Amino acid sequence: MDYDDFLRHICPMLDLNWRKYRRRAARRGVQARIRELGLPGYAAYLDVLIADSAEARALPDRMLVTVSRFFRERDRWRILSERVLPVLACEAQRAGPSGIGAGFPGKDAQALVKAWSVGACGGEEPYTLSMVWLSWEAGGRQDAAVDILATDIDPDSLERARTADYQGSSLREVPSAARDRWFRQIGPDSWHVTEAARRPVRFWRHHLLDDLPPPASDLILCRYLAFTYFIGDRRRRAVERLAAASRPGGALMVGAKEDPGGSLEGLFQPWPEAPGVYRRL
Ligand SMILES: C[S@@+](CC[C@H](N)C(=O)[O-])C[C@H]1O[C@@H](n2cnc3c(N)ncnc32)[C@H](O)[C@@H]1O
Repeated sequence: MDYDDFLRHICPMLDLNWRKYRRRAARRGVQARIRELGLPGYAAYLDVLIADSAEARALPDRMLVTVSRFFRERDRWRILSERVLPVLACEAQRAGPSGIGAGFPGKDAQALVKAWSVGACGGEEPYTLSMVWLSWEAGGRQDAAVDILATDIDPDSLERARTADYQGSSLREVPSAARDRWFRQIGPDSWHVTEAARRPVRFWRHHLLDDLPPPASDLILCRYLAFTYFIGDRRRRAVERLAAASRPGGALMVGAKEDPGGSLEGLFQPWPEAPGVYRRL
């Protein structure tokens, strides 16, 4: 049995999209586990997974694909900034400093937009949101601040995110003005995110399906996780978590190559003129 055969057998049983796990990072995770258990290969591991439900439950978290980049699908960030952030900032202002922003130390004098980046990987996505927000806000458009909770299950990715040092390849979609403003070059091909862009972002270890979601988010970024890797009941459970985390009227942004299909029905509806963004009912 080769790796593809292994995936074709096990992934449908666990409500995972087997094609998305063909990447080298996922295969390395499986191979490491096979070595740890002292098994001869994929077929033997498949037998273990079928017999042992705890081992099977843990498998998706061993096959992590931790790939991200700043301003991934750059056009989508422009759309977010033009069509969605103004609405969220306006609503936060209407709710007032003691409304949405209540309870955030040092921030309760200002309206606050609460964002959650789910599967934040090495921080590229939440830092991008911070940069987009700060650029937009600097235009003096609204008096509201952003607080970004960035979560992932991978401790190595979270460590990378907190360090905030990146190779040039992570910056390949960053507009040059944003690169000059939000990054400091620290080596021939390494860049560090400025303090100003890091300040609104907090990182936590959090499992989308197993841990309680944070309440009352105004904006959720869930890109290239639930709508790429999860299918069937697993995706339904993920959507329930996202819906529970979103305030009514809050926004959910997915990846440009992702189609949530009917999984959002009754919970979110498309945001007008903002492809890839949905509004919590
Ligand atoms: C392909 S990356 C996407 C990164 C980023 N959202 C983007 O679009 O560029 C998927 C991330 O989801 C994380 N992840 C996988 N399963 C997860 C789970 N159950 N809960 C939270 N994060 C998870 C992985 O560790 C990985 O960092």
